[in-house]
Amino acid sequence: MGGGALGSDSATFEPLPRLGYLDQLLKETLRLWPTAPAFNVAPFEDTTLGGRYEVIAGQPILVLLPQLHRDQAAWGEGAGVFDPERFSPERAATIPANAWKPFGNGQRSCIGRGFALQEAMLFLAKLLQRFEVTSADPGYTLQIKHTLTLNPERLYINLRRPGANIAAPTHAPSAPARPAFPRVRPGVRSWSGRLAASGASAAAAGSGST
Ligand code: HEM
Repeated sequence: MGGGALGSDSATFEPLPRLGYLDQLLKETLRLWPTAPAFNVAPFEDTTLGGRYEVIAGQPILVLLPQLHRDQAAWGEGAGVFDPERFSPERAATIPANAWKPFGNGQRSCIGRGFALQEAMLFLAKLLQRFEVTSADPGYTLQIKHTLTLNPERLYINLRRPGANIAAPTHAPSAPARPAFPRVRPGVRSWSGRLAASGASAAAAGSGST
């Protein structure tokens, strides 16, 4: 798909609506592996949830997203299967309200939702437009690293630019001239302490002392 909607153009906002399948991919990925796997809610008044669970006002309830997002009552028997077609325009309308909540709920829901999805779509579109993507380890099975967020552990990919030939150099390339690193404008005093600590020369840091 990569080159299709974007062509060879630079990434801009306009083609995003035409990249619908990427949107479906992202939504289905966030369903099975929600980056932020839980959030809290609390009722304003005493209530009974689903006719079964008594909850008093203010009592925190943890919404565990991997559980909600794989609930067969909402997603069917194949709830554990990765299927971006669930979010196709035809089928998305049949998803029960509140069954998909990777960005939280209500007043405390994510203010970065639009930005995060747009950024991820643009990144994916540009990546697929420019590179052939393959798994670096075809035998890899998903392992989740669980910190505050969920991440795939040691998942690596290979990127290859179509048409690019990578040949071993016939002679050792000469090192390009490099400026001293880090580059600091002479007289920028606030950096000199850190530079001294990392072993950079005092000359690179200017003559100031902090
Ligand atoms: C895929 C990316 C993201 C996911 C899955 C995500 C998920 C969430 C979730 C579940 C919450 C609710 C937390 C709670 O109720 O305890 C939340 C809140 C929030 N998110 Fe995100 N987020 C993402 C990206 C972003 C980005 C890019 C920004 C900022 C540019 C952002 C800013 C915020 C802020 C400020 C809140 C707190 C809102 C409030 O409490 O009023 N998020 N996010």
